[in-house]
Order: sequence, then C-alpha cells, then structure tokens
Amino acid sequence: MAISSLNPVMFRRVAGAFTTGVTVITVERAPGLVHGMTANSFTSVSLEPLLVLVCVDHEARLLSLLKSQRRFGVSILREGQQALSEYFAKPEQTPEEDARLGIRYTWTSGGVPLLDNTLAQLTCNVVAEHPGGDHTVFIGEVESMESHDGEPLLFHRGQYRRLAP
Ligand SMILES: Cc1cc2nc3c(=O)[nH]c(=O)nc-3n(C[C@H](O)[C@H](O)[C@H](O)COP(=O)(O)O)c2cc1C
Repeated sequence: MAISSLNPVMFRRVAGAFTTGVTVITVERAPGLVHGMTANSFTSVSLEPLLVLVCVDHEARLLSLLKSQRRFGVSILREGQQALSEYFAKPEQTPEEDARLGIRYTWTSGGVPLLDNTLAQLTCNVVAEHPGGDHTVFIGEVESMESHDGEPLLFHRGQYRRLAP
C-alpha cells in the first residue's frame, strides 16, 4: 500500500478513484436566462425527507446565484454528453453558444430550468448550507424528479468514461 503525503494533487488522484456520474446544476441567473455548472459532487442524502447535496466552489459564479435564488435544477448527463459537461465547466455561457450546441431547457412552473434530453432530472429547494473549506455544501429538498431510459456519462480519474456493454 502506498503511503502518500497530504497535498491537493494527491487528494485529487485519490478522490478521482471514486467514479461518479456527471450533473449540470442550473439556476435562473436573470429573467429567462440560465446559468449552469458541471458538478460531480452531487449525492443523494436522505429518503425521508428527500434530500440531495452538491458542493460548490467559492470561486464559482453559481455560489451567489444559489444563495439568492434558493432553488436549483439537477440534470444527470447521458453517455455522449461530454460536450455539455465541458461547456458548463467553462466561464462563457451565452444563448448563442447554447443554440450552437443544441442545448434546450425546460422551465418548471416554479421557475427552475432543466436540461432537455438528459438521463434524469430533479428540482430542489435549498434547505441548508454548510461551510466545507473552499466549498459550500448545499442541501436541497427535492420538489420534483423524473428519470428516463439510457446510459450515464461517467467521470473517473479526471476522464470521461462509459459503462462497459
Ligand atoms: C466533471 C466535472 C465535475 C465538476 N464538479 C464540480 C463540483 O462538484 N463542484 C464545483 O464547484 N465545481 C465542479 N466542477 C468545476 C466547475 O464546473 C467549473 O469550475 C465551473 O466553471 C465553475 O462554475 P461557474 O461556471 O458557476 O463559475 C466540475 C468540473 C467538471 C469537468
């Protein structure tokens, strides 16, 4: 067993061994406009009540939007949606670029945007936030959810992967 020093590079390598799916967290940033952030820290937390969590970097623009809007969408990406993951991990998001990538949103009656044609979606209401070093952990109570057939996009050791057939 390798014993390694405690540093962020090693931590990324170790934490990256834990394979996850990939989500895009969405909020309304201005009337009718969406801000999305790629996140793989999404986790289910509780069944009663239905709770999830997502960890948001203090440098992320999503942080202040989540604090003010208090509601967010979670869209779980499908196999083949790597370009969406990359797009929502970049600073520049515009309606023109959304259109170029064929990104479409469905808005819930509560004003939460969700990405169309993703594997599963939830809308959540922020019920708690906890400091976690350079991130804030947001706890969301699920307000609506749906799931569709298909395969997930996976993330493992910094690379996109797919389920083996
Ligand atoms: C696969 C993947 C997973 C990510 N997961 C998270 C995450 O859980 N939390 C986070 O704050 N940033 C995460 N990021 C980084 C953000 O998507 C990226 O820094 C983003 O540009 C910052 O958000 P902003 O657009 O709101 O500023 C992830 C990036 C990738 C590619």
